[in-house]
Amino acid sequence: MANSNLKEAKAAKNDEFYTQFHDIEIEMNAYLEYDSNVFRGKTVLLPCDDPEWSKFTRFFAAKFDELGLKKLISTSYAPDSKKYKAPYQPSMFEQEAPQFDSAKTCVKGKIFVLEQDKSGDGRINIDDLEWEYLDGDGDFRSKEVTKLRDEADFIITNPPFSLFREFLAWIMEGGGGGGGNY
Ligand SMILES: C[S@@+](CC[C@H](N)C(=O)[O-])C[C@H]1O[C@@H](n2cnc3c(N)ncnc32)[C@H](O)[C@@H]1O
Repeated sequence: MANSNLKEAKAAKNDEFYTQFHDIEIEMNAYLEYDSNVFRGKTVLLPCDDPEWSKFTRFFAAKFDELGLKKLISTSYAPDSKKYKAPYQPSMFEQEAPQFDSAKTCVKGKIFVLEQDKSGDGRINIDDLEWEYLDGDGDFRSKEVTKLRDEADFIITNPPFSLFREFLAWIMEGGGGGGGNY
């Protein structure tokens, strides 16, 4: 019993593993070597993410113009829904935003969108990221995230390992063999 609890705790902790910037760079460079315009005019969805931790969002935001992206969407999972419970404190980025809501911060997922030059500095980058709370907790299987899946040309993420099969099924159901690239 103790052993199975330990295994569950380990699996839950593994679900929170965040990918290193360098590893993302290596992986994405392989796509770009194959076709330097692979992301041009495309919408990229990063589900199971969290820009406050994720290097995926930082990578694509930093290269938004260079890659010629049309839109970057990233969704995060609500802290209270995570299997692995760690002390949670909303970031300054979230707390200082006018839309910050202390009743939602633990129970709602978030959506981050990068599409236009909001800051007016002539570039589209992380400073132009807009966000709001999702209606639900950001579960990739929810209706609202599934709708984003269907809007995207590319879905890129390191999913929660314990839900890998379900995640793959969700991708395939969205037309993994169709127009999308996952
Ligand atoms: C392995 S981490 C990877 C995070 C990020 N994609 C990266 O690679 O840096 C998986 C993330 O998915 C979140 N997650 C767990 N279950 C989820 C679910 N059902 N729907 C959406 N996200 C989930 C976890 O809380 C965690 O933040």
